[in-house]
Amino acid sequence: VAQGQTAPFAGTLDVLSRILPANLLKPRVAIVCGSGLSTLASSLRDVVEVPYSSLEGFGKSTVEGHRSALAFGLIGEGKGIPVVAMLGRFHPYEGHSLSTVVYPIRVLARLGVRDIIITNAAGALNPNLDVGTIVSIQDHLALPNLTGFNPLLGPARPNYPRFLPLSTAYSRPLRRLVFLAAHALGLPRDALAEGTYAWVSGPTYETPAEGRYMRAAGADVIGMSTVPEVLAAREEGVNVCVLSLVTNKVVIPEYESVREAVEAELAGRTVEQAPEAELSHEEVLSVGQQKAGVMKALVAKLIELIAAE
Ligand code: 6GU
Repeated sequence: VAQGQTAPFAGTLDVLSRILPANLLKPRVAIVCGSGLSTLASSLRDVVEVPYSSLEGFGKSTVEGHRSALAFGLIGEGKGIPVVAMLGRFHPYEGHSLSTVVYPIRVLARLGVRDIIITNAAGALNPNLDVGTIVSIQDHLALPNLTGFNPLLGPARPNYPRFLPLSTAYSRPLRRLVFLAAHALGLPRDALAEGTYAWVSGPTYETPAEGRYMRAAGADVIGMSTVPEVLAAREEGVNVCVLSLVTNKVVIPEYESVREAVEAELAGRTVEQAPEAELSHEEVLSVGQQKAGVMKALVAKLIELIAAE
């Protein structure tokens, strides 16, 4: 919803209120399912799926490995806790404007969502983080936000803070519940870590120099999503929890000159050069799918703990 433009909230909310039964219309918690993580929504029962294509203001999701629908349903025993899951999200690298990227978050806030659990697939910059580890994000490093690519850019609007503070963006009460949920599930200690998420706009993966830079600046994981949604959720007054699934370790080669190798070659010697590595989206997706089970259990338990508070 670009500032100055009238948002189609009324239309979007009207469609939802016609489709959904009363017990699903006011979800307490929202889940954003990242790459390969749409199975998180299989914890829901009595599900009603609403395709993004039927909702005014929603973009068309184009990235492989993402579905494109809101899934409304219940989690937990008894009456159940009403939950909404975004199956698929919008990324700036697909060409969506930042206002389109965050529009669904603003809709969820208007449905009454108080807590949002945002998941994503991320690369590990911290060498101590192994593939399959879930990282509870406690802060972010967003070079695009610092350089003028920020979803909250625009004229001041009534009822919204002009200068949104981000020092407490990642809810400490929710982060506490994440660790309690891991404990309740009996997860091994190293299955869940805490760290800082570096957001890059993509669609290119970072260069080795960029990877070194963000690691040196304090980032533990890196990815191309989530931060715009976090900003919009905070602006809407929604509590945020972010869980990153490490799908690959970011190999950051030391700067390596070819000069020595060529000089050695000319002198009739050979020197070993480190193998060059390239990351593929397929790798990110398949690890996401393989490791989604733990994430699914953790998110379901977390929602139960949120509802019990
Ligand atoms: Cl943005 N970079 C790397 N190296 N790995 C990733 C990623 C980014 N997102 C998921 N895995």
